[in-house]
Amino acid sequence: MNIIVCKDAAEAAKKAAVIFAAQITEKPASVLGLATGSTPLGLYEELKGMYSAGLLDFSRVKSFNLDEYVGLGENDEQSYRYFMDKNLFEKININPENTYVPNGLAKDIGNECKAYEEKIAAAGGIDLQLLGVGHNGHIAFNEPSDYFLEKTSLFKLNEETIEANSRFFASKDQVPQRSISMGIGSIMAAKKIVIMITGRGKREILSKFINSPVTPQIPVTVLKFHSNVTVIADMEAAEGINF
Ligand code: F6R
Repeated sequence: MNIIVCKDAAEAAKKAAVIFAAQITEKPASVLGLATGSTPLGLYEELKGMYSAGLLDFSRVKSFNLDEYVGLGENDEQSYRYFMDKNLFEKININPENTYVPNGLAKDIGNECKAYEEKIAAAGGIDLQLLGVGHNGHIAFNEPSDYFLEKTSLFKLNEETIEANSRFFASKDQVPQRSISMGIGSIMAAKKIVIMITGRGKREILSKFINSPVTPQIPVTVLKFHSNVTVIADMEAAEGINF
């Protein structure tokens, strides 16, 4: 793995933006895998800035988001679709029809999961996948488990994730308990992966990621089996860790 330690989260966002910009410049019809949460916000700010400055063209880009809460629709302010529209898609020239987020209101979730995998395959697979990591090591909504789930599936959020994500909701009991999420196999199929790990709160999981063998109990460790992963951390997360 290629590990980049940046001074702070702002520098980490800039580094990640350079990688995304290079990808889109080299291949204007790139297929991007995108994430929500606090971690990528700085990167999305950078990408919007590059677009406004005329340095990036998203007109041929396609994007697939990692996950969505079951039960939340596009107009729900807590949905990941809403998050992506407001924090990125509406501010750049990506064609909304080329932005894919699992449909949290799908009547037939099994079908939605299958169709999502088919859409990724039809787009030619993901060229560059962005990831954040949960405090418990989850990537997308792949929680610690006894096995790695391959494909886009219905996931149950565990207690720790519900607690962590409750900061975006009025109360903890409003956090949806289930999500549709890309599986470990769908993520590992991406040609390149960038994972951003920033802030003091992520120090312990970054250390486990670097020092533990691959185990589904710490899902992020699976990235060690991928041939093209860049870890972008900041000093707050990386302090004291021997890379
Ligand atoms: C988001 C996602 C999650 C987050 C993770 C970290 O689409 O799939 O795995 O990346 O929970 O979230 P933040 O960045 O808010 O700490």
